[in-house]
Amino acid sequence: MAEGLRVQGLSVSYGPALIVHEVDLEVGAGATVSVVGPNGAGKTTVLRALSGLVLWEKSSSRQAGVQLVGEVWFGQERVDHLPAHQIASRGLILCPERRRPFREMTVEENLQAGAYLVRSRKVAQQRMAEVCRLFPVLRERGRQRAGTLSGGEQQMLAIGRALMGGPKLLMIDEPSTGLAPLVKQPLFARIREIKTLGIGILLVEQDAELALSMADSGYVLSQGRVVAQGSPAELLADEVVRRSYLGL
Ligand SMILES: Nc1ncnc2c1ncn2[C@@H]1O[C@H](COP(=O)(O)OP(=O)(O)O)[C@@H](O)[C@H]1O
Ligand SMILES: [Mg+2]
Repeated sequence: MAEGLRVQGLSVSYGPALIVHEVDLEVGAGATVSVVGPNGAGKTTVLRALSGLVLWEKSSSRQAGVQLVGEVWFGQERVDHLPAHQIASRGLILCPERRRPFREMTVEENLQAGAYLVRSRKVAQQRMAEVCRLFPVLRERGRQRAGTLSGGEQQMLAIGRALMGGPKLLMIDEPSTGLAPLVKQPLFARIREIKTLGIGILLVEQDAELALSMADSGYVLSQGRVVAQGSPAELLADEVVRRSYLGL
């Protein structure tokens, strides 16, 4: 079942650089919400914070001077102090930007890797069947090395791998980046279909029109702040938002 997400006052800084500033954001259970905005706005950092990856950097001191504040509620539970794997096992799952399959592994092995937190083999098999129904090309290419897939196929694999983890809310970072328009459309049709499976979606995209066209609501992020939010129709009709932040 889907689960709602509520983010309150999320701020992230790396040393003196304030990357995300007091972001409030909500995704209702089963809703699709798009976060759009220019390159460098802090979109990826928000998703990495929600996934526990910023906390991991902070606690493992992999990165100097990481500051992280704010509350993240997933369903009835506060999750911002949990380690990344526990956040994922609750169903808040990130499909990271730039796809990055394990190139030397087969497509099927990549998908299995997405189920590493899933204890039941039966559940993993059911999910594999569901992913292959959604993306038949992944079944066809199951034995092929992931590095040989096209860009669009690699993006399907990345989403498939995230689905193997059993998301209640799937966070997808820039699925369309680097893909030809002809490849984008069928990919987004599939993402729409994920929504019909009762999975919530938090979609981060630079292609604002495409992302907002399938969302229930949207946020515009610029320089780490939410500068506009509302229904997709409202955001796309706002001349200032279009010109200043969306480059439309
Ligand atoms: N680990 C980091 N250390 C320092 N600066 C970072 C780090 N990660 C991201 N940034 C900076 O934060 C800003 C926002 O980055 P990002 O979240 O990737 O934006 P977006 O996804 O919207 O393009 C950029 O200026 C980027 O250089
Ligand atoms: Mg990004």
